[in-house]
Amino acid sequence: MLGGVDSRRKVLVIELFTMAGIFLIGFMGSGKSSLGKRLSERLDRPFVDLDECLVDRFGASISRVFSEHGEEAFRLAEREELSRVVALDNVVVATGGGAFCSPENRELIEASGAISVFLDLPWGVLCDRLQRGGNDRPLFVDSEQARALFEARLPQYRMATVVVDLDGRETVAEVVERVAGAVQEAPCAI
Ligand code: S3P
Repeated sequence: MLGGVDSRRKVLVIELFTMAGIFLIGFMGSGKSSLGKRLSERLDRPFVDLDECLVDRFGASISRVFSEHGEEAFRLAEREELSRVVALDNVVVATGGGAFCSPENRELIEASGAISVFLDLPWGVLCDRLQRGGNDRPLFVDSEQARALFEARLPQYRMATVVVDLDGRETVAEVVERVAGAVQEAPCAI
């Protein structure tokens, strides 16, 4: 009898685990989008890029959304898109660098049972990548301003279910394997 209950519980835990979304979080330049795409292929799950959802929703680049509608409108839309995405099963999601920094958004992710994964890279690596530019990042003004933002956000990023410590020299394939392994070991969030 006890064995029966135990094995049903095991099945339930496995079902919850396999349904849990994976949310990649971290500062701008941490590689959430490229990693997310590769991870979704590796795990055979659908992939959603939250910033892409916002670009589609506004029909404009992120920079234009910030300049024409303001950050508040962006954050509101980000929360609405997140509410939609947390309801999707099995999904791998690349979030924007600010998405996990709102308590309401963290609550949405946690309550869905998803696993949040913080890609923890040193500031120097992120700064080099951001200074090389080429991306649509209205919140990167200069290295000093961005460093202050990064440091203010670190304690929130560290609230993720899993922290993956990286030095920036890993290949994408290596990071995919590190994250896939860490997710497998992660405690189910519900
Ligand atoms: C933001 C990061 C961006 C994008 C927006 C705001 C942030 O995403 O969501 O510019 O607040 O850090 P990436 O982290 O993918 O660059």
